[in-house]
Formats: sequence, C-alpha cells, structure tokens
Amino acid sequence: MSDNAQVVGSYSAAEQSDNVTSNPCVMLIFGASGDLTKRLLVPALYNLACDGLLSKNFAILGIALDEMTTEQYRERMNNDIKKFHTRQQFDQKVWDDLISRFHYMSGGFSDMKVFETLKKKVSELNGQYQAQGNVLFYFAVAPRFFGLLCENLQKSGFRDGPGWKRIIVEKPFGTDLASALKLNEDILKHWQEDQIYRVDHYLGKETVQNLLTFRFSNGMFEPLWNKNYIDNIQFNVCEAVDVEGRGGYYDQSGVLRDMMQNHMFQMLAYLCMEVPGSFSSDAIRNEKAKLLQAVRAYTPEEVERFVVRGQYGPNVDDAGKVLKPGYRQEKDVNPESKTETYAAARFHIDNWRWEGVPIYLRSGKALWKRGTEIVVTFKKAPEVMFRGTPVEHIGANRLIFHIQPYQGIEIQFQAKIPGPLLKIQPVHMRFGYGDAFKASRYTGYEVMIYSCSLGDGTLFSRGDLVEAAWRVAQPLMDYWKAAPADFPNYARNSWGPKAAAELIKRDGRNWHEVVTEEVLKKVELFKDGDLLFLSQLIMALKARQTAAGETVIQKGELGKEMYLIARGEVEVLDDAGKVLKTLKDGDLFGEIALLMSTPRTATVRSKSSCDLFVLEKADFNRILRDNPQFADGVCKIARERYDLKLNASELTATKG
Ligand code: BG6
Repeated sequence: MSDNAQVVGSYSAAEQSDNVTSNPCVMLIFGASGDLTKRLLVPALYNLACDGLLSKNFAILGIALDEMTTEQYRERMNNDIKKFHTRQQFDQKVWDDLISRFHYMSGGFSDMKVFETLKKKVSELNGQYQAQGNVLFYFAVAPRFFGLLCENLQKSGFRDGPGWKRIIVEKPFGTDLASALKLNEDILKHWQEDQIYRVDHYLGKETVQNLLTFRFSNGMFEPLWNKNYIDNIQFNVCEAVDVEGRGGYYDQSGVLRDMMQNHMFQMLAYLCMEVPGSFSSDAIRNEKAKLLQAVRAYTPEEVERFVVRGQYGPNVDDAGKVLKPGYRQEKDVNPESKTETYAAARFHIDNWRWEGVPIYLRSGKALWKRGTEIVVTFKKAPEVMFRGTPVEHIGANRLIFHIQPYQGIEIQFQAKIPGPLLKIQPVHMRFGYGDAFKASRYTGYEVMIYSCSLGDGTLFSRGDLVEAAWRVAQPLMDYWKAAPADFPNYARNSWGPKAAAELIKRDGRNWHEVVTEEVLKKVELFKDGDLLFLSQLIMALKARQTAAGETVIQKGELGKEMYLIARGEVEVLDDAGKVLKTLKDGDLFGEIALLMSTPRTATVRSKSSCDLFVLEKADFNRILRDNPQFADGVCKIARERYDLKLNASELTATKG
C-alpha cells in the first residue's frame, strides 16, 4: 500500500452506489511512463474503478518517449500498482478489468507525425469503447511542454468533432507572474478557458473541499465571519520532510512558489471569499478570484516588515557531528543557495469584510512535525465581567480546521472547572473524519479526474486566479532576489526561524501550535499508540506559558505531569545550579512523572519565555484505562528505557 495517500477521501463503495459514474471518454496521458502517472494517476483511476465511479466506456492511452508495447506498459503498471495503491485490500478483478483498458504508444511531443498517429489511435479507441468522442488530455509532463502540446493537439485537429475535449494541466503553472501570463496566453491561443483544468492537488483534499461546505451549510458561522468578530486567521503548512532528493527542482522554486502561491492561497481564498450565488464552478471561482485580487500586493518596505524567510541548516548532535545535512548540502542544491525553505508572512485583505484582520501564513520543510491547520481566532469576551473572581484571564475562542494528517474540525472554548470556586479552563469539541465517516484512503487525484470528466471545474484553478496569486507573490520574490539572506537560519526539526515568532509577537500574538499524532509518536512512550489513543492524549494536553527564569520543575517535588515544549528553551540544572542540558522546541521533559509519582530528579527552568503543553498524570491514567491495550506496552517501555518496574494495574489505578 502506498504512503502517498494523504487524504481520507471517499465514502465506502456501498455508499457511493447512488452516485453517477464519470463520463465516457478516452483519457490521453502525456508523460505516461513518469512518476506522477504511476504514483498518483493510476492508483486514482483504480480507486475510482473500485468505488464504481469509473464509466465502463473509458479507456486510457498513455504516451511518452520510452519505447514500449502496450503489453509491456501494462506489465509495468501491474507491478507499480501493487506498490502504490492506497486501499487496504487489493481487488485483482477490478484491476484486471481496468488494466485491459490501458494502451500505450511512444513518441516525442514536437513530432507532428506522432500527433497524426495519436489522432488515429484515439479515434479507434473511441469507437471500441464508445466514448462518445470525449477526450481528456492529461499533461503529466514538465511545464515547458504545456504550450507545445496545446499547439500540436489543436493543429492535429483534436479540437474538432463531436464530444468534449478537456485538458488537465499539472503544476507549476508558471514560475512568476510574467511566465504565468505567457503560459496562459500560449494555451488560450489554441483552446478556450473552459477546456483548461489547472490542477492544485490541495483542492482535491476532502478537508479543503469541506471548507466551503462548512462555511455555507452551517448558519451559525457565517454571521461571525468578518472583522467584527475575528481577531486573526493563521494558515499553517508544516512539513517534516526535507527536499527529499528534489533539490534540482526545489532550488529553482522555494517555499513561496512551491506551497504558498498555489496551495496556501487556494485555501486562503476558500476561507475568506464572499458568499457565492451558487455552488456552480464559476460562481465559486469568481469569488475566489475577487478575494485574491483583494490581497494587498506589497511594496518592498512592506515585504521587509511583514514577511520572513528561512532556510534549514544541518542537524548536529551534542558533539557537533552532522546527523543530517542542511539544505545547502542537499543533492543538486547550490552550496550557496539563497532559496527559502521556510516563509512566514502577515497578509492584508483590503476589502470591507477583512479590513484590519491579520492573515498569517507560514510553511516550511524539515520542521518538527507535519501538520496543516487553519486556525480562526475570534475576538475575546470582555474580562471585566469576571472582576472580583479568581478568573484573571480569558482565552479566545478558536475554530481549527485540521487539514492533515489529522483530519477534523475543532472548536475551543472556555468551561468552568468543576468545584466550588469560579475557575475556567480552555476545553474543546472535536469532530474527526475517521469517527464520522467510513472512509478509505484516496490520493486526492480521483476527484480531479472524476469532476473534469463531468465538466466541473470547481476544484481547478482558473487563469485569472493563478495570475492574481502571482501578483501577490511577485513582490516577495523581487525583494528577496535583491536583498541578501542570512542563511541557514533555522535548524532541522525546529519550528523555523526565530524571526517568524518575532513577526507575530510584534502584533501581540503567537502562532497557534497544534500537536499532532505524529509528534506524539516520536515520544517513545506513545509511539505504538493508535490514532484514537493519541487523539485522546492530544485533547488532554493543556497549554501553559512560563516566563524567562521561571522554575517549571523543582527537584525533589512530587511529579504529576510531563511537558512538551511548543516554543522556547528550558534548562535542566544540577544541584549547584549548573546547566546540564538545554531543551527546546519539540523536546519533552518530566515524562517519568507520568509513570511514577516519584520526586523529580532535576530542576528545570525556563531560559526564555515558553509555550508548553502539559499532560497530567491523572489524564494519562484515565486515557490508559480507556485504552488498556496500551498499558502493557507502556510498562515495557518504562522498564526498558527508564528502568522503572511497574505493572499495568498500577498505571491505570484511579488515584492518579
Ligand atoms: C507539492 C510540493 O506541491 O506539495 C511538495 O511540490 C510538497 O514540495 C507537497 O511536499 C505537499 O503536499 P501534501 O499533500 O503532502 O501536503
């Protein structure tokens, strides 16, 4: 089963049975022997077939430079699908039927003779499969071929005849504003805008699609969706992976082009656009385009003030040994590269609804966790009401869209702590996709192919949208090109450069960190926990802020909780007050207290102001009681790692 599948994306086949299948067509894949085809397109077609969503009148014709017969191509796909399919079980019968519809021919994209043969072949397949003259062209090739393919397809008469003709174009769509404008011009010389489907695979994610459904099918949120009630919005796309051998591509790109200008701006448009007149593709895309056009294009002074960039350095152990290379040492990366692998920015949407509401975006590679979240923070309730009570501070309400890897929606609010005193604590309600829907893993490309075949462009970007996004990104690229960067400026596995925290602190705010299952899995104690166990732990985490110099743990005190550092640094001190170790973002301490209520063995002090997540022993024990299958495993780890002898019943005892 493939690791590429990131998206919980389909209902079970039984629930799909009322749905219409894709339209009949011949799908012509350019770049059929490439990575995208085998990793994503073919597994997506297979998923559609498994869910009964693929028309019976459907055939695939692959074309690429590699010399191969159709039989050899099918053989190759037979092997690849075993590696890259995303389902729990492989359905050989469905696959056999699907692969029998695959055909292949080799040829170069500039040779008109190849296009003549293609035309003939497509028309044969059209007759054989009764595809009604419909042809879906998929450009799974480098962008430099897009214009050429459009021209040659049109010249060889592919636009003519009955049935629809549609083109799916992969990203990146341009590398800057000028190249995107030129590409649009080249394509639209030969084809019409409504025939062009520009892929942004984030739009294929169920959790991204749900942003619109959530906003417009629930009456309680839209009235609050504006500057009067919302304090700020944060878009966070953290990646734990580095450039993963794609240095050649990435060094020409950077996070702004790779993630922000496309994926993040698409999410921004969904979250902040005006209410469309209908769910029709153009009504939605018109509003998205208007929103992106309202995002302020920065002057150089504004870029300097509102945007931060970063590049990761190596991972070095305490003895100075390089464990993992920094970005500049990655394969195919210029050793003096100025390319940013991290960016954080505050944007302004200059329209009536959002005037003055900070919109923060941050994304980067080689960070301490993978997690995409959108955090909508509402304005706080007035604290004045609580004068004369023990309540000193009220937190803000938050609505969090967990896009991936955890997929869900969460609302954070305040509740009274049970007891005679009026004390309040932030709590939350969570909806998880995995709990509510019987879902199988999708690649995200299924919905793209499916909706394109039905002529629905909603999930694709439009020329004006792409241009509007480049208009916002261009001043950042111009400024960065001109101004030297002090790289590398963040360590692998960290939260990114310090300047990013300072950027938002200047506004009196913090990045809202979301702990994910992945983060907890890095902790020895929790690494074998299943999703339910881990999500219960996450819900039990409480936020605590400490000031520089404050003692967090005092040696000799009875430990009742452990800590996870969200931001900041703490020092572990010996009896004489000498610093033994410094712990920072992402590190844990005090975990022995979760296992035993024994006195602390060292003092821990905040070196800087810190944001900490606290997990209390009572909560931990309660969660273990609910998930007794993990108690034995935890005891084993306690024995092996900490030399602590305890048994499961002690751990789950109610006294806490
Ligand atoms: C791609 C980028 O578009 O998106 C990659 O080129 C990035 O660099 C990827 O890792 C992230 O996608 P996802 O679906 O894993 O969030």
